[in-house]
Formats: sequence, C-alpha cells, structure tokens
Amino acid sequence: MKRLAWLLLAFPLLAACGAKAPSSGLEAIQKAGKLVLGTSADFPPYEFHTTKDGADAIVGFDIAIAAEIAKDLGVSLEIKDMKFDGLLAALDSGNIDLVIAGMTPTEERKKNTDFSEIYYRAEQGLIVRSADAAKYTSPEALKGAMVGAQKGAIQVGIAKTRIKGMADDKADHPEVKELGKVADLVLELKNGKIEAVVVETEVAKAYAAANPDLAVAPFVFPDTEGGSAVAVKKGSSGLLSAVNATLARLAAEKAMDGFVNAAKAEMDKL
Ligand code: ARG
Repeated sequence: MKRLAWLLLAFPLLAACGAKAPSSGLEAIQKAGKLVLGTSADFPPYEFHTTKDGADAIVGFDIAIAAEIAKDLGVSLEIKDMKFDGLLAALDSGNIDLVIAGMTPTEERKKNTDFSEIYYRAEQGLIVRSADAAKYTSPEALKGAMVGAQKGAIQVGIAKTRIKGMADDKADHPEVKELGKVADLVLELKNGKIEAVVVETEVAKAYAAANPDLAVAPFVFPDTEGGSAVAVKKGSSGLLSAVNATLARLAAEKAMDGFVNAAKAEMDKL
C-alpha cells in the first residue's frame, strides 16, 4: 500500500520533469547562442513583413529592439511570427524567449508574465474606409456598427467598453469581430464586412498610408495602460534585467526615434 502511494506520488512528478519545456533563462539563451523572439508581424511600424533581397523578412522598430537585445547578449536572433493571442502561451511553454509585439503590460497580463519598462507610448485609434471618414467622427457614430479588433488584444476591450458601452469587457458582443491577425481585419474592412478596426494610432496611420481606400478616424482613445513593453516568462529575472539594460542603453543613446523612422521608411517601400 505504501509502495503504491509512493508510485502514485512519483509518477506525476516524473512526468512533469520529462515534459519540462526548455528553460528560457538567460543562461539557456547564451548556451543556445540564440534568442527566440515571438511577435505578430501584422503591426507596422512595430513589426511587419517586407521583401529584402527577394526574400520575405520581418522588420520594424520592435525587431530593431530585439536585435539590440540579442547583440548585447552576444547571441543571434530568431523570429517566430504567430497570432497575437498565442504569444503569451508560447512564452510560458518556453517556445519563445521573449515577446516584443507592441504589447501593453496590462494588470491582467502581469499576473502570469513579467514585463520590462515601457519602451514606446501609444494612443488607440481606428481605421475606417476613406469613403466613410466623414461619417465616423466619434465613438457614438460607431455604436451600432460592426467593429473589428485583434483577438487577445486590448483593443477588443476598447471596442466593447468605449464604443459599445458595455460594462463587462469579458462578455461577447455581436458587433465586435475578433480575428487573429490585423491584416485580416483590414481585409474585412476593405470588403465592407466591418466598419472600423480599433488599433494603435501609429498602426492605423501605417495601414491608411499603404491603402488609399483607408483612412484614420479623427478621434483617439488615450492608452491609459501605458504603451508597449517587452514580455518575458514569469520569474526570468536575469533575462528581464538584461532586457531593461538594453532598453536603458537605447534610451540614453536616444536610438528609438531612429528605429521608428527607419521602420516607417521600410514601410514606404512596400
Ligand atoms: N497593444 C495591444 C495589446 O497589447 C495590441 C498589440 C498588438 N500587437 C501586434 N503585434 N499585433 O493588446
């Protein structure tokens, strides 16, 4: 009986050890010689796809920051492009070492994830069709319209509370459409399936600049939660300090503006 109890105790433990995801600590990264970045490359100028020397490449100012972090760690950078709503689970399972994806460090996310200092501030805006720009000049004007937001992003809550007037942003709303990729929301907007996409204003401007049939709505929702930060697996204090050290260096060198402008210049080539 005693033996059986031991076995029962030991098995889940053994199974847990065997299934342990590769450690995403600083040492493991240095040992592997590479830093694996998770991002959702549908978010110009933060991160987006472009063609470099005939091949697909992911660029943007988040990627420039990631490259600096990798450089300071003395390792190479590998980029994994995924849906935004899968990033934190990938981080938790050790599939990626860090997330840089214009991610807002919300209180809810902070429960299970550690965040760096804020590296970029933002406001929230809307992409609409140019033809409707004069119609959608306030949140109230969109109250009865189909509005899109990226699945898992804070914009879903903004659409529900600030446009639809819902008190609880966890409940579904039939006129808030959630999709995994911003580019797919933009397609739905172009095709008349939705009337607006809630997104960071810089991203709205980027899509409008690249698509003459799209425009930025003339109002914003200030981002009260504070902008973008780098996410690491909860408890990865070594990696987090390294990330903050690189961010502090970039701030001291006033490098961010240059990164943002370089990203916008890449966008012009699209
Ligand atoms: N800042 C918003 C959030 O954290 C949206 C970020 C979306 N990022 C992206 N790469 N698609 O929820």
